[in-house]
Amino acid sequence: MSLSYDTLYTESIQNPEKFWAEAAEKLHWYKKWDKVLDSANPPFYRWFAGGKTNTCYNALDRHVDEGRGNDTAIIYDSPVTGVKERFTFREFRDKVALFAGALQSRGVRKGDRVIIYMPMIPEALIAMLACARIGAVHSVVFGGFASHELAVRIDDCKPKVIISASCGIERDKIIDYKRLLDFAIELAHFKPEMCIIRQREQLKAQLNEERDLTWKQTLLGAEPAPCIPVESSDPLYILYTSGTTGKPKGVVRDNGGHMVAMHWSMEHVYGIKPGETYWAASDVGWVVGHSYIVYAPLLNGNTTIIFEGKPVGTPDPGVFWRIIEEYGVSVFFTAPTAFRAIKKEDPKGHYIKKYDLSNFRTLFLAGERADPATVKWAEEHLQVPVIDHWWQTETGWAIAANCQGIEPGPIKYGSASKAVPGYNVKVINHEMEELGAGKMGDIVIEHPLPPGTMMTLWKADNHFIQSYMSTYPGYYQTSDAGYIDEDGYIYIMSRTDDIINIAGHRLSTGAIEAELSAHPDVAESAVIGVADDLKGEIPVGFLVLKSGVDTPHSQIIKHVIEYVRENIGPVASFKQAIIVERLPKTRSGKILRATMRKIANGQEYTMPATIDDPAILDEIREALQSVGYPK
Ligand code: COA
Ligand code: AMP
Repeated sequence: MSLSYDTLYTESIQNPEKFWAEAAEKLHWYKKWDKVLDSANPPFYRWFAGGKTNTCYNALDRHVDEGRGNDTAIIYDSPVTGVKERFTFREFRDKVALFAGALQSRGVRKGDRVIIYMPMIPEALIAMLACARIGAVHSVVFGGFASHELAVRIDDCKPKVIISASCGIERDKIIDYKRLLDFAIELAHFKPEMCIIRQREQLKAQLNEERDLTWKQTLLGAEPAPCIPVESSDPLYILYTSGTTGKPKGVVRDNGGHMVAMHWSMEHVYGIKPGETYWAASDVGWVVGHSYIVYAPLLNGNTTIIFEGKPVGTPDPGVFWRIIEEYGVSVFFTAPTAFRAIKKEDPKGHYIKKYDLSNFRTLFLAGERADPATVKWAEEHLQVPVIDHWWQTETGWAIAANCQGIEPGPIKYGSASKAVPGYNVKVINHEMEELGAGKMGDIVIEHPLPPGTMMTLWKADNHFIQSYMSTYPGYYQTSDAGYIDEDGYIYIMSRTDDIINIAGHRLSTGAIEAELSAHPDVAESAVIGVADDLKGEIPVGFLVLKSGVDTPHSQIIKHVIEYVRENIGPVASFKQAIIVERLPKTRSGKILRATMRKIANGQEYTMPATIDDPAILDEIREALQSVGYPK
């Protein structure tokens, strides 16, 4: 008999070691752990201390060894190139082992960092799993980031090798990844020893003879590498995410805890059995891609799909349903913004009706708040449960969800449902008092966090403590605000820092401001996230010019838009800047971004008590009205 949510959740909080040891038993360990949870050095908790394992072994070889070698592990479907491929667990294991051997023969060793800057092609997964196989630490950088962002990551994690492709394809545009990579290496202080480039026929890259090899050249003469046993707490990967400063944070994930959490989550959160097809339509550059395109489905023995396309325009808003039908997808995961894009082009769901979705059981949404209108539209047209769940790059998997494999509860629109077992979620105020049902406050998670969550920030333990663990000692600060209702349902309402969420992509307004302020005519700038029907939020910039500037305003605006695109990347979707005389500030000089955002969104706001000059808010309102806000 399966246990109720309450029983399982209580057990996970009161007896986490027993709870997670049982989950860990289902995976392969070369050496069992000495201690399930090492709490000797909080907040640096270590799961399965002393254990030795290999994530790649558990994701691929284990299934082959258990007789499932001929089952499909990976499907690659690329509407932008017309290519469709399938790989069994055995075929993919062999490809990964060979590439891992090639990396070893080029000097890549356990603990070395490898940056992967690739589009959604099978080689991206081969590269990630090959690193895991030999204990190298991968750091995947999203292809929509520009050279400068890539350079910052190169300087931070100092990769021995960078693996990339000659190009990516974005609908009908060819993106020259190699040019972006070469420029990033030029900008970076640290230089990798080698770059491995997967040449694609849509655009062949020029190679630097001293530094670059093609993917094919790299494999010449290579021998397959076996899996190397690594410590449970050895890093599997670093994934950079936006922080409150312009500098991204390198979230470090371990091997053992991550593997256990990923595996557990497939059955319990997503309610999916080995052998079924699971599809997360995200990108390997994001945490959703790491966890639910690559690691969790493979660890659980599911078929996973690499989709090189978009929800609309590749070729039409029916592509998701075509894939669900063609591969018999049971559980599908995407971002609400993708659904808004589909709803806009196919409001009546005509495309949905063209496909047989009888295998499709559940839709999961995350990455941003799932607005009730989108959830209801999806429910009406798909006739399956639509589950909003909340998580972050830092946690690596869901903090709150309506766990479909435990005891599915009622859906409450606007809520990500209850805390997932392992996460002791609380809402507190600045005095660290726990708030009652329905009271809005800071959402925190009491220590210890469950397995799979971040270990630290790469080479920045102090920054890790300052960013997440010091405001509320004993708790992890999520930087999300919200409330919990009388039934334990969690409502995520807003970020408490300057992170904005553009089409499910997490970006820092601070980083965009740094680009605006780099313009020689700009004295000061502020960026806010304004509500957008499609992307959830889009950034709008405010510029205060230096005195005596006579450059035409339109030219300054054009230049700062170019700066952001060139230095951060097109995914920032920065298309609008307004020149104002001054910015509203508190008496201590803090820019009142939250109030500006409310004005732009047409929301009620209370006049901040500490405002320096209330009249400036009227100027901001007029400036926003001049460009059509509030919408
Ligand atoms: N490589 C290079 N460029 C990329 C890129 C990549 N991997 N991904 C996006 N870009 C570019 C796009 O080409 C676009 O450039 P443009 O300004 O020249 O048109 C820009 O970045 C913005 O892209 P995107 O955010 O994808 O917006 P869009 O308007 O092209 O499409 C959606 C809108 C809603 C369809 C799209 O954002 C989407 O599919 N979102 C889902 C996001 C998601 O899965 N997030 C993961 C969290 S679960
Ligand atoms: P990322 O690290 O890119 O996954 O972004 C994490 C942030 O996205 C969270 O801190 C939230 O602000 C937001 N987010 C993710 N999922 C949800 C959700 N289901 N509901 C509300 N906000 C979400």
